[in-house]
Amino acid sequence: DAAEKGGFETFMLKEIHEQADAVAETIADRTVRPDGVDLPELDDELLRGVKRIIVVACGTSYHAGLIGRYAIEEWARVPVETDVASEFRYRNPVVGPGDVVIGITQSGETLDTLAAMRLARERGATVIAVTNIMGSQATRDADATVYTRAGLEIGVAATKTFVAQVAVMYLLALRLAEVKGTLDDERRTELVTRLKRIPHDIGAMLERGTEKIDLVAERHYAKDFFLYLGRHVGLPVGLEGALKLKEISYIATDAYAAGEMKHGPIALLDQDTPVVVVATDSPVLEKVISNMQEVRVRGAHVIAVVSEGADLGEHAAEALVVPQTDWMLQPLLAVIPLQLLAYRIARLRGLNVDQPRNLAKTVTVE
Ligand code: G6P
Repeated sequence: DAAEKGGFETFMLKEIHEQADAVAETIADRTVRPDGVDLPELDDELLRGVKRIIVVACGTSYHAGLIGRYAIEEWARVPVETDVASEFRYRNPVVGPGDVVIGITQSGETLDTLAAMRLARERGATVIAVTNIMGSQATRDADATVYTRAGLEIGVAATKTFVAQVAVMYLLALRLAEVKGTLDDERRTELVTRLKRIPHDIGAMLERGTEKIDLVAERHYAKDFFLYLGRHVGLPVGLEGALKLKEISYIATDAYAAGEMKHGPIALLDQDTPVVVVATDSPVLEKVISNMQEVRVRGAHVIAVVSEGADLGEHAAEALVVPQTDWMLQPLLAVIPLQLLAYRIARLRGLNVDQPRNLAKTVTVE
């Protein structure tokens, strides 16, 4: 058992530490050219003709889809919709020829996602599977498959498969942008260079240790509610951080677009509430900072994920620092302290993080 966990106390912790490799393997031979991405799995004609993309997925994979949406729309200027598979399949979706539907499923076996993919295909859409498992059902139900290469994930709460999925969404967005001619060479080169640095950044961050995260966990592990806030690509990171905490620590969480806080969640804040804010460098950072001030004046406790070198001073009670990267790629780094925070809190509460109650790794029923 100990050997299987490679010296780590749990599979989840081992898998969190395998994330640099998961990204490195996933992008490796696809980022050989300095100014572009190769995805021979996908036909250039198909990409050139795509008018609309719909991403369907469940759970953590859905959050990877949300991040993909920002990247595809920003870089390739193709409209993207995202939907949880169980909603998509039952809303008689308007989908057909000319649409590309991307089903993201690490296991390749999630029933709702498979059903959504099949429905889209029946109606004439082209379906792409993004999965971690060779030969899984999703690969058989799709017109093409782009594999994540995270290696087998055992912990029920997805970690390394998530960063690998996000990496695939970036690859897809970059490939699409290149084929469509929507990003100049310089920006493409910059993004490919930054993406290739991510495994190093993850490794460096994990090597620095988790002292700060442990401290934050110690302070808040007995709380009964956490709010997560983010904007732009920071929003899906917040959603994923909140899901991780809820899944393994059984603490109630809410995750919200920071700009929507004033329309509801702000009423939940009191002196005790920990509010996790994704506040890494981005064009919307100023807006995020004003949300942090709104939280602070209510006496709640801001735990911010910030970029190295940024001085958010008094805005956050606690800062979890992540390396600098391109703002669009930041989710690959920003999610990691949130995984670790959820992990540490669950351990302090004495819970079985690898097999949380009521959850299954693969959900093959409705
Ligand atoms: C389950 C797992 C989650 C996962 C979701 C979707 O709920 O506990 O970790 O994100 O299924 O799984 P998939 O295999 O389709 O990515």
